[in-house]
Amino acid sequence: MIYSRRDILKIGAAAGFASTSPSNLFAQSNSAVPLTAREASLQLAPPDYPQTAIWGFDGSMPGPVIRVRQGGRVTRRLVNELPQATSLHWHGVRIDNAMDGVAGLTQEAVAPGASFDIDFVAPDAGTYWYHAHNRSVEQVARGLYGALVVEEPEGPDVYRDEVLILDDWLLNPDTAQIDPDFTSRHDRSHAGRVGNFIATNGQYGHSLDVRRHERLRLRLVNAANARIFELALAGLEGWVMALDGMPLEAPQPVSDTVLLGPGQRADLLVDVVAEQGETAYLVRVDNGEGFVQSAFPVIAASSGARRDAPQALPPNANMVPPDLSQARHVRLHMGGGAMGRLQSAQFNGERRTFRQLVDANQFWAFNDVIGMTDDPLAVLARDEPVRLEIVNDTSFPHAMHLHGMHFREIAADGTLGPLRDTVLTFGGEAREIAFSAHNPGDWLFHCHMLSHAASGMTTWVRVT
Ligand code: C2O
Ligand code: CU
Repeated sequence: MIYSRRDILKIGAAAGFASTSPSNLFAQSNSAVPLTAREASLQLAPPDYPQTAIWGFDGSMPGPVIRVRQGGRVTRRLVNELPQATSLHWHGVRIDNAMDGVAGLTQEAVAPGASFDIDFVAPDAGTYWYHAHNRSVEQVARGLYGALVVEEPEGPDVYRDEVLILDDWLLNPDTAQIDPDFTSRHDRSHAGRVGNFIATNGQYGHSLDVRRHERLRLRLVNAANARIFELALAGLEGWVMALDGMPLEAPQPVSDTVLLGPGQRADLLVDVVAEQGETAYLVRVDNGEGFVQSAFPVIAASSGARRDAPQALPPNANMVPPDLSQARHVRLHMGGGAMGRLQSAQFNGERRTFRQLVDANQFWAFNDVIGMTDDPLAVLARDEPVRLEIVNDTSFPHAMHLHGMHFREIAADGTLGPLRDTVLTFGGEAREIAFSAHNPGDWLFHCHMLSHAASGMTTWVRVT
């Protein structure tokens, strides 16, 4: 039976909640929109290959783009139709801890056949993403992720606003099926699970038609398990407007390449400068060579002239920089991996030699300890300023992601960089980040190279 909106209001009145406004009426219903994690198959590889079996939200990869206005609520019912328990994390959102979706820390994993109700407010405008957070190394690689876009009350004037999710997949080159070895010793001990097939939005030959002089907003998300994307523009002139969702104080012209580690995002505004009949590109740079990541065929002439350079996006509120003079010092030493110097570390409460750790398929230590512990890395008082030194004493890059709060990197001259939620560190580097612990709860802090997170590089902080 189909009810018109007026009928629903009538029914509402009859049931005795006449004063409830229509929007409340719907919010209080217990039928939140489902977001179903399930198996599906789609044409990921080029058309002459078979379809690829994936796991995706609502059966798609990426999952549906979820858009809300800043300050709006996100309500979904996570329905698990997978053969495995799962959970759903909202990467980069200053979220209520109970909704952070970390199986084993903020909630139990959602069993096959079960569901979990999600309901949170998205306080900050920007580009975020959601992804499975149980057995992430497998579940994200199989396709369980999508974008969350939180719109500014008044966004920049653009012709179109596009989410571009960058990922790579490790596919069997004959069957185009996802390599099911998610515990590979080599991936864990080296650079992580790096794919052999790279695409945008799960589409081979991703392409968007444009017209000359159009301005586009490109919301780039790196959803790869381990790949660092180095990106450049051709036939497009652009500015980085935001990193990890948070606006930069001033737009930064893209003159060189933009680096995106796993989990990181960049919002670009780009103007099409290629001529009609040409094609502009988002270029992936790999060892100094350029490859097409996305193509933008210029199908028509402009209707107008080039526009002026853009103004910065409005800053998100309550992002007070931490007072470094009062800040508590925390140190995170990263050790282990292939070609590392780790001789032994604590694992499950016992000291193990590197040989024993290899046998246990565990390779990475934070401050001499492998994996999650009962005690957090730090217990922070609410609003306490922290400086966290990250020493990458390994031979590999690591993308460290803090849940629940953004931080700023402290530059060599002591100034604070832009807000981020994931910081890329290269082998042999030390970097220092700072934040005020303004969001109470238990927050994971881990490497977003997901094979590394599964083999030691996961810890947490508690904000009381
Ligand atoms: Cu994007 Cu702990 O995750
Ligand atoms: Cu790592």
